[in-house]
Amino acid sequence: MLDAGCGTGENALHVASLGLSVLGVDVAETALAMARAKADDRGIEVEFAAADAFQLERLGRRFETVLDCGLFHSFDADERPGYVASLASVTEHDGTLYVLCFSDDGPDTGPHPISQEELRAAFSSSNGWDVVAIEPDRVQTRYHDDGAPAWFATIKRI
Ligand SMILES: C[S@@+](CC[C@H](N)C(=O)[O-])C[C@H]1O[C@@H](n2cnc3c(N)ncnc32)[C@H](O)[C@@H]1O
Repeated sequence: MLDAGCGTGENALHVASLGLSVLGVDVAETALAMARAKADDRGIEVEFAAADAFQLERLGRRFETVLDCGLFHSFDADERPGYVASLASVTEHDGTLYVLCFSDDGPDTGPHPISQEELRAAFSSSNGWDVVAIEPDRVQTRYHDDGAPAWFATIKRI
């Protein structure tokens, strides 16, 4: 699994602790150092590397499963095509991308809320994706007691 924008690695560490092979990538070296320290402390085998989410093809690897938790919604609309193409370059055909992003549905939304229509516009058959499901969820932030409204999207690479 690839965790794009893994931050300090909690999701990558969780999935690796279940026995899956995981690479977490981020641009922030400080976050990666914290992620590696957590992996050492917990005795979990997981790989972390510095990489730009817009240039994932430089990894020279492909993944059955890709996770984006809190990265997609940080990009402006004009940046999304480049990011989505980068994701496509590392996701195996028939592989699955999971995106958890701020949603525009409900009160107290997070910054950069995303609509379902924006998700479906970003990932479509014309650029190699099939949005299988978009479910309401919550995403934890420092500013929301019970998390902010989110979409949990399951998107297949075709
Ligand atoms: C909101 S944090 C989410 C961290 C983690 N996924 C989580 O759920 O806790 C977004 C992360 O994306 C990283 N990021 C932002 N732009 C990036 C880029 N172009 N390439 C790779 N990582 C990026 C940030 O450094 C940050 O760690």
